Amino acid sequence: MMLNSSDFEIVQLGPRRFPSPIAKAGVPSQSEKLFVSDQHRVAYEVEWQSGQQPAHPLSFEKAGPRKDLYFDPATTKAAIVTCGGLCPGLNNVIRSLVLELHHHYGVRNILGIRYGYEGMNPEQGVAPRPLGPDDVRTIHHAGGSVLGLGRGKQDLGVMLDFLKQHQVDILFTIGGDGTLRGACALGQAARERGQKLSVVGIPKTIDNDIPFVDKTFGFETAVETARQAIDAAHCEALGARNGVGLVKLMGRDAGYIAAHATLASEDVNFCLIPEVPFELDGDSGLISLLRKRLERRAHALIVVAEGCGIHLVKESSAHDASGNIRYANRDLDIGSHLRDTIVERLKSEGFPITLKYIDPSYMIRSVAANANDSIFCNILARHAVHAAMAGKSELLIGRCHGIFTHIPLLAVATQKKTMSPYDSLWFAVTQTTGQPVFGTTLPDIR
Ligand code: F6P
Repeated sequence: MMLNSSDFEIVQLGPRRFPSPIAKAGVPSQSEKLFVSDQHRVAYEVEWQSGQQPAHPLSFEKAGPRKDLYFDPATTKAAIVTCGGLCPGLNNVIRSLVLELHHHYGVRNILGIRYGYEGMNPEQGVAPRPLGPDDVRTIHHAGGSVLGLGRGKQDLGVMLDFLKQHQVDILFTIGGDGTLRGACALGQAARERGQKLSVVGIPKTIDNDIPFVDKTFGFETAVETARQAIDAAHCEALGARNGVGLVKLMGRDAGYIAAHATLASEDVNFCLIPEVPFELDGDSGLISLLRKRLERRAHALIVVAEGCGIHLVKESSAHDASGNIRYANRDLDIGSHLRDTIVERLKSEGFPITLKYIDPSYMIRSVAANANDSIFCNILARHAVHAAMAGKSELLIGRCHGIFTHIPLLAVATQKKTMSPYDSLWFAVTQTTGQPVFGTTLPDIR
């Protein structure tokens, strides 16, 4: 779907009548410099051919504290919900939201919703818990989410009634694409009802597949942890004659984790991602290329993203509660399929190999955030509080070319982010591994 400038306008709940208490934190004469105005924009596209500069480039509102607030901190109540699967940094975001609200805006009423959107359906019987600085003091040292997560939709009316009953003014939704679509629908439904609710999303997923966002939180830590698995597989491969290390990584529809971990490792010979179809058989198929590599070097390392090679394994209709294809089941497990097929085929050719298969799937997302992700989570969360207190709604805190932005949830909900095989990232991967572009089915988008 084509987007234009008006698709990047941010919903404002009403006039801002309260001066921000943030100013008190700075040097009084310089306090104006702390604030960001709604007119401050960040260009989406920063590259163009000479002479073809767009007349009206798409741009995002810049994130940051606003001088005046829509919500009166003294009476405001905020709630936080974490949805989807685990991701490094969830607790960091929860902690920074609570501390920014409490210490810098003076908001004293904060609720933690349990187990995703389910926690806003009273029939599910999971009451929210109050959150204050003491509750979040050390949580950032651990992986997971102290609130628990959950997948799946709940009735919008039920959730809005719950929020109204608990007098919640602001809802911070921490999640990936499915969660953000839900947050978008919730914000729209609140507006239609005349319920003054600010819904602000924070981009969580190890898959890094949220549109208009440089990177999602948790991604870097996942890549770092994935590299450890790749290093182990490389070591195993080197330890045997014709040793093959095979690592399966998460990445449902996008190969960012596999691609980045491959670049970080520099030892990988074949990186397989969902966006670039590959064949097993034939002269340019994986088996033949792998054999040639082994004949030359006596060891090889393969990284495969869970969502790739779906055409090679049995069809399945298994879906998770978010409506996504569930790859981690037997019919669709590309990792074990490759393991078994490679061993059998090369054995039948009279070329025995020693293959070690490592599947670190859930390990890479259940660890605590690394330093970079911790910084990122901290800043994302504080920007989310600034946006919400200013009365903005139906937005995601993003980062574009390193600058924090406000992205309308509707724009996020209508787009998909995957790796382009023609992108410099994939080119860097193929240069690093030395692998050819597999298959002949690449879309001709150039
Ligand atoms: O969306 C993040 C993710 O980690 C995907 O990479 C993966 O396919 C999915 O979650 C698995 O989720 P779960 O097993 O928790 O349903």
